[in-house]
Amino acid sequence: MTLYLSRKLRFDDVFFAQYDRVFDLDRDKALKILEIGCGPGALSESLHRWYPGAQITAIDRDSSFISFASQNIAGVRFLEGDATDLPFENDSFDVTISNTVQEHIEPAVFWREQRRVLRPGGICLCLSARKGIQCTAPCLQMTAEEKSFWESISASDDTFEKYGVGKYRMSEAEIPASMEQNGFKDVTTGYALIDLTPDAPKYSAQMAETMIEAMRQNDLEAIRSAHSSGAQKAVDAVNKKYDERLRLYREGIRQWDTSVSVTMIVRGRK
Ligand SMILES: C[S@@+](CC[C@H](N)C(=O)[O-])C[C@H]1O[C@@H](n2cnc3c(N)ncnc32)[C@H](O)[C@@H]1O
Repeated sequence: MTLYLSRKLRFDDVFFAQYDRVFDLDRDKALKILEIGCGPGALSESLHRWYPGAQITAIDRDSSFISFASQNIAGVRFLEGDATDLPFENDSFDVTISNTVQEHIEPAVFWREQRRVLRPGGICLCLSARKGIQCTAPCLQMTAEEKSFWESISASDDTFEKYGVGKYRMSEAEIPASMEQNGFKDVTTGYALIDLTPDAPKYSAQMAETMIEAMRQNDLEAIRSAHSSGAQKAVDAVNKKYDERLRLYREGIRQWDTSVSVTMIVRGRK
């Protein structure tokens, strides 16, 4: 749910024009789209709205993501499956797409499988999160309870590994080069700027509160996944500070805290 909430924001309709310009897909065609490593399914859910004529299939090897996505998202076929051995015929999709998955899979295999299932002329879209800007509201600074919780966790705990970057992470120059080396043509790069600033007037109250809730869930999930006793005080402190952030928002007392992330989109043709 935590990942779903943060991705739902990133793939909100307010950002569609930016994605659409780089995706450069024919919206009038009945495209067959395959999402690789879909996680909880937020990107496919948005693709279903953005390209209503498309037939969307999404796979992930994690069965809990697939069961979450199947239960919560309509109009997309979710399947458990491995991106290194896609359970599809050659030449069977018009588009393959993935978000923050490339860094987890050996590049030659990642590209090879997508090229295999794409029809000739089909489009591969590889999205990845790049560095952005983070500015925290004073009321959301780390509390003493959180600090003491994190200090109590041993640095060798696998929580840190869990939040680490993928094994095959590549730079902004390496991804398009790797795509070309693996047989894709007409490779282009583009960027979508995802500005999450709850106080910005361009966002609805619902969107602003979803941003604050997504931050809250992110902090709570980090604490919970540490599986440590003594987490309750930190959980209470997190809830209290986000309740305060919501109160300030609702009373119109602006904080201008912001999280701006950049999504890189690399596009290539089979
Ligand atoms: C960082 S998550 C991104 C999830 C989703 N794309 C999103 O943006 O919310 C990486 C995803 O890739 C999936 N994944 C990693 N290796 C995979 C593989 N070989 N086959 C299928 N899925 C894989 C993971 O299970 C996980 O859901």
